[in-house]
Amino acid sequence: EQYPVEMHKVRIIQKLNLLPVEERLVAAQEAGHNTFLLENKDVFLDMLTDSGVNAMSQDQQAAMFRADDAYAGSATFTRLRDKVVEIFGMPHFLPVHQGRAAEHLLSTVLVKPGTYVPMNYHFTTSKAHVVANGGEVLELIKPEGLQVTSEHPFKGDMDVAALRALISDKGADAIAFVRMEAGTNLIGGQPVSLANMTEVSAVCRDHGIPFVMDASLIADNLYFCKTREASCADLDVREIMRAMCDLYDVIYFSARKVGFGRGGGICVRDDRLFHKLRELIPLFEGFLTYGGMSVREIEAITVGLDETMDLDMINQGPIFIDYMVRELERRGVPVITPPGGLGAHIDAMRFLDHLDQHDYPAAALASALYIASGVRGMERGTMSEQRNADGSEPLAHMELVRLALPRRVFTLSQLNYAIDRLDWLYQNRRLIGGMEFTEEPEILRFFFGRLAPK
Ligand code: F0G
Repeated sequence: EQYPVEMHKVRIIQKLNLLPVEERLVAAQEAGHNTFLLENKDVFLDMLTDSGVNAMSQDQQAAMFRADDAYAGSATFTRLRDKVVEIFGMPHFLPVHQGRAAEHLLSTVLVKPGTYVPMNYHFTTSKAHVVANGGEVLELIKPEGLQVTSEHPFKGDMDVAALRALISDKGADAIAFVRMEAGTNLIGGQPVSLANMTEVSAVCRDHGIPFVMDASLIADNLYFCKTREASCADLDVREIMRAMCDLYDVIYFSARKVGFGRGGGICVRDDRLFHKLRELIPLFEGFLTYGGMSVREIEAITVGLDETMDLDMINQGPIFIDYMVRELERRGVPVITPPGGLGAHIDAMRFLDHLDQHDYPAAALASALYIASGVRGMERGTMSEQRNADGSEPLAHMELVRLALPRRVFTLSQLNYAIDRLDWLYQNRRLIGGMEFTEEPEILRFFFGRLAPK
């Protein structure tokens, strides 16, 4: 049997705390059964997200010491810009404080009321910014992408025929931009193939529609292209990255995910679009040479981007996720397959098949898992959807509990603990009932909404 093994060692540690189950129950109740509202001191293994919590390397930490503090013209920023231009190959780069800031600015400039933004799949914040500017998000994921169990290697691929049909139906002018999320977040961290990006890019170029990549989860996606796509097998990671980037007009990313740091950025090819976006940076983010990021974080991201081009660094997430998904599958726990990036995704719809989707099964499972184990996951289902304008509630395509594996953070024995507790919870799944809102915010309600057992 093969076990994953890390190509790094741990040299700084943080002590963890495992509360007794009675205290975990109280903590869950005080958090309104929303894992976002738990205090981290009450959490044993924090698998809420990989955002801003990936482990830094010694080279990143060392770089943070030489950061050049300057409002304007910081040498630290120049180092990041040069690195981004080297890796992404785009002429222009703008710094922003995190991924959703890039989404805010791109939607502000490109989305007009009544326009459409087709994408392989939405992410919560990317959709919210399109909608806030009067646009409509259309998801053109291939049907395989929504099958919870499959052996399809690239379930994040976009349906190119559907994109062509949409353009001939609405007209190219009605399409604000086409967004490719590589890899996808809400459908189980599933990657997009280079072949699919190439096809979509050709359609966009034929019609003069800007093609935008959300590269927040690109590290895992690069690994999957290298290991699952025949045409990439003989390319190194940098070459795959450049082959992708050359297909796009705009690439933005959350450096809380890619680059093992905290920040974000937008790469732009076209001069006019660059100038329009640049005007908004000082208004919303900060001056052009920091964009809301601390110079120390900028140094860490610059080094982290190089580490993202190193297969020994970016393989750890996907191979640990693969291990966790396969072990859960062996125990009969319903999971999304094939294993993707970002984390292991538990299929709450099958796990709690006695609950209705309006009972928020993924939220119920996330809270139950915390109580049973101290492991904090994230609801990625109907609770993460936004109500329609008429107040009705759209049901999510999938009801997932995501157990994110921040890069380079957890050990295999910690994964085994989580697997064992999930196994126990699955054996005792009838203990878990449905939930209802006691407090429901209007926008991005999953962040601070509160629930109670129905
Ligand atoms: N795009 C994708 C695909 C993301 O996964 C995220 C964040 C963002 C954009 C927004 O970036 O957080 O830096 O503003 N995903 C985090 C998560 C929050 O937990 O999945 P941000």
